[in-house]
Amino acid sequence: MRAEGDAPVTVSRLIEHTDYRNQLLEDVRHGLTAYRKHLPSKYFYDARGSELFEEITRLPEYYLTEAETEILAEHSEGLMARIRPDELVELGSGSSTKTLMLIDAMHLSGGSRYVPIDISEDALRAAAKELCATYKWLEVEGLVGDYVADLDKVRRRGRRLIVFLGSTIGNYVPTLRYSLLRAVAAALDPGDLFLLGVDLVKDEASMIAAYDDSAGISAEFNLNILRVVNRELDGDIPLDAFEHVTRFDPQFSCMAQSLRATREVVANIRALDLAVTFHEGEEIHTEVSCKFTRGGVEEDFAAAGMRLDEWLTDSEKRFALALGSHA
Ligand code: SAH
Ligand code: AVI
Repeated sequence: MRAEGDAPVTVSRLIEHTDYRNQLLEDVRHGLTAYRKHLPSKYFYDARGSELFEEITRLPEYYLTEAETEILAEHSEGLMARIRPDELVELGSGSSTKTLMLIDAMHLSGGSRYVPIDISEDALRAAAKELCATYKWLEVEGLVGDYVADLDKVRRRGRRLIVFLGSTIGNYVPTLRYSLLRAVAAALDPGDLFLLGVDLVKDEASMIAAYDDSAGISAEFNLNILRVVNRELDGDIPLDAFEHVTRFDPQFSCMAQSLRATREVVANIRALDLAVTFHEGEEIHTEVSCKFTRGGVEEDFAAAGMRLDEWLTDSEKRFALALGSHA
């Protein structure tokens, strides 16, 4: 419980339940009737999906979180001392675990407002509760919504730092990545900054292991998207008829995840009044996880009207934090 005088903590919705459901209906109809079946990766993240992702971050093979944590531990204070934001707006904040380092550093430089935006209400509420217990001085305005479609609805209070950690930008193919970065650029005023976490191109074996761990958590995470479709849209897709597939696509420099039918299946999605046939060996594409280079990030920033001001990597050059601002 917050005492009188403590900074306020709120969680509100930028997107209504009905809009989320209508979007899901449209995306599932579109994705499962397409020539190459696909589902948008944002539907991984119900309560279970968010927990599975947290488990992934603790896997020995999933080097991304450890590498980004190393950079944040070394540079958060220096970054915040230079940027001196009044507010920290985080896209796809999840558990906000790594962000604690930025929040601590922001406090030292005088900022006191944190605005996490996430599509997963469960993850957002759990994070807000933890933050509320830890930081009495921190004003938290949690927003349940889509960080591309809803970013322009976020109220501003002073100088802003937008952060997008975890290489979640890698979950967007180039055209959607461009839209996302344009939305970020539009939400920045002169003097504001953008801090972006990106996973770097590296040897293929390390990247494959990160998305196909020996404990099978990545596979569970991938299959969870079918659980979400079944539950939300009254479907009967049999999860045991699908296997997790991950491969590196050198042309697009991304890991690509899919679910492959191990036998022919006809499933009903009752909310759509839709019967879908999955042929043996057919895949549903569920996620890309693009890998970056400094030059590529510079180009992506420039296309969106931003410039790269700083590039920080971990000691093994596995991951980078890119600081950008208006060009
Ligand atoms: N930033 C955290 C979590 C990354 S997981 C980290 O670095 O560990 C990706 C997060 O983005 C999840 O919490 C998921 O719910 C959220 N997310 C995915 N697509 C989203 C979208 N379109 N809008 C808002 N949040 C989204
Ligand atoms: C959130 N995102 C950056 C993760 C990634 O690495 O693409 C999600 C994930 N998918 C499988 N493992 C982790």
